Amino acid sequence: MVFLGIETTCDETGVAVLDVKNSDFQVKSNIVASQVKIHKKYGGVFPTLAKREHRKNLPIVFKKALKKAKIKENGIDFVAVAVGPGLEPCLWEGVNFAKDLAKKLKIPLVPVNHLEAHILVNFLYNQNFKFLFPAVCLVVAGGHTQLLLMEKIGKYRLIGETRDDAAGECFDKVARLLGLGYPGGPAIEKLSKFQIPNSKLKVSLPRPMIKQKNYDFSFAGLKTAVLYDFLKRPEKIRRTKEYKILVATEVQQAVIDVLIEKTLRAAKEFGVKSIILGGGVVANEQLKRQFIENSKRQIPNFKILIPPKELCTDNGLSIAIAGFFNKEKATKNFDKIRAEANLRI
Ligand code: KG4
Ligand code: ZN
Repeated sequence: MVFLGIETTCDETGVAVLDVKNSDFQVKSNIVASQVKIHKKYGGVFPTLAKREHRKNLPIVFKKALKKAKIKENGIDFVAVAVGPGLEPCLWEGVNFAKDLAKKLKIPLVPVNHLEAHILVNFLYNQNFKFLFPAVCLVVAGGHTQLLLMEKIGKYRLIGETRDDAAGECFDKVARLLGLGYPGGPAIEKLSKFQIPNSKLKVSLPRPMIKQKNYDFSFAGLKTAVLYDFLKRPEKIRRTKEYKILVATEVQQAVIDVLIEKTLRAAKEFGVKSIILGGGVVANEQLKRQFIENSKRQIPNFKILIPPKELCTDNGLSIAIAGFFNKEKATKNFDKIRAEANLRI
């Protein structure tokens, strides 16, 4: 069974070919065209420009994905497409491309939830479900920060989410303030690798909601705290690499502390068997390292699933995998498939 996965929720155009034989996944191709260079000058994603780029890139990326997979169009059995959540104009580009293709090939279309795809990509290498469920899932991306209790594939209960900005959004906004460019997460991670042990400057930021006995987050407050710190510094300090390194290190650690504290607390309270992470922010090496260390220390014999770095950020393969796990939703009633910018999990 060959699944084609299509991703256009934000600023990555992704197409992947996945061959599934008796639940054994063979990745044939996974091509991503990033629009980072285009959006960089705006300090964030410009939706109408992103839509135009998706339209231009989709046929090219599709062709490349087939070529790399060494298959022809008629070798595809299912088309899976991310229908939301995401930027509406961008979503429609992927949805319409997928519909046209499925119609032309007379094959079914599987609508996929982008957030679920960030979770399900973990099952590319781990399908020992008996030892995984129930699980706590943390989806942490540019537009979402959610904690979910997962009983099995397709059964989720939202136990907490951000009340304002997502963690990735916080990195993106802080990076913009410091003039580090877009996307902010990788820029902040890069800077935080420098160390200034004897700095006279001290940057100390809050860990919003960390002590509250719920599973919600708030990262807008953290961003504002960075802004206040920034504004109280003289111009010549703000511009120094030293100051930027200190802010980047501290904001990254503040986000990591809150995410780890709440996720591990949920894991203990709900007595789950594993923690599953997904979303662009999980590409952060410090976050990954500290999650593994802390969960080992606090909850031994515990499984923690983290996708490889290139599968944390948006890509077509995650959509193809989610398409496989949702194949009962496959339909040839194409008019029913719509982009849903605010789709919930
Ligand atoms: O999942 P994703 O590619 O798109 C959305 O679904 O939003 O996540 C994008 C987010 C951006 O906010 C970006 O700054 C963040 O993930 N990100 C990172 C890293 N790489 C991407 N955040 C921290 N560290 C990284 N290495
Ligand atoms: Zn995403």
